[in-house]
Amino acid sequence: MRGVAVRLTAMVFAPPDRIVTDRLVIRRESADDAAVVADAIDRNRTRLLPWMSWATGEAAEVSTQVARIAGASEQWDAGDMFDYSIFDLVDGSFMGKIGLHRRIGPHGIELGYWLDAEAEGRGVMTEATTALMKVALELDEIDRVEIHCDEANLRSQAVPRRVGFALDRIENRPIAAASETGRHMVWVYQPDCR
Ligand SMILES: CC(C)(COP(=O)(O)OP(=O)(O)OC[C@H]1O[C@@H](n2cnc3c(N)ncnc32)[C@H](O)[C@@H]1OP(=O)(O)O)[C@@H](O)C(=O)NCCC(=O)NCCS
Repeated sequence: MRGVAVRLTAMVFAPPDRIVTDRLVIRRESADDAAVVADAIDRNRTRLLPWMSWATGEAAEVSTQVARIAGASEQWDAGDMFDYSIFDLVDGSFMGKIGLHRRIGPHGIELGYWLDAEAEGRGVMTEATTALMKVALELDEIDRVEIHCDEANLRSQAVPRRVGFALDRIENRPIAAASETGRHMVWVYQPDCR
């Protein structure tokens, strides 16, 4: 009787809880992170609000962050969203947030981010995006990572450009935050199509 080779491939439904890069620890949040995230939102509200309408005084309250992190944890377990905080590998300080969202249709996942002002301009988000993009592409049935940003958000669009994403299209969308133009850029990284 001839042997039959069976190749078992592990299904990967969620990325790792903790990703370490040269300078960063990118870690799934727990309730213990609520205070540090609330404090960072409070200090960065005027920078974030032009692009992120959720960055209000209410979002800067610890109780809001406790509730958000609990909801994000449920979404993680359901495989809908994987939300991380970014910390300095050396001193453990909070640097910002990055996440993956399954909300762009089959085989795709959207990556979003923001940084604390202290962490801006040092390549932190380029490093975090490069790492998270790689683990996203190892997820089952994901072959495309997208980054969405408004055309006026020059710092945000520079991140996918630097990492090697291609600008796929610009769509007209309702303006969702004060500095947006409504011209919504969709940057795509899709290894098989490059
Ligand atoms: C969008 C945002 C995360 C980008 O942050 P950023 O600091 O510009 O991006 P990076 O961390 O990748 O850093 C890139 C900068 O660091 C510099 N840099 C230094 N060392 C670097 C390194 N090792 N690798 C890459 N870049 C490096 C780059 O030259 C660049 O500087 P420049 O802006 O003067 O050209 C940040 O501006 C932010 O939080 N904005 C507000 C919220 C927001 O808009 N979020 C996105 C909504 S779509």
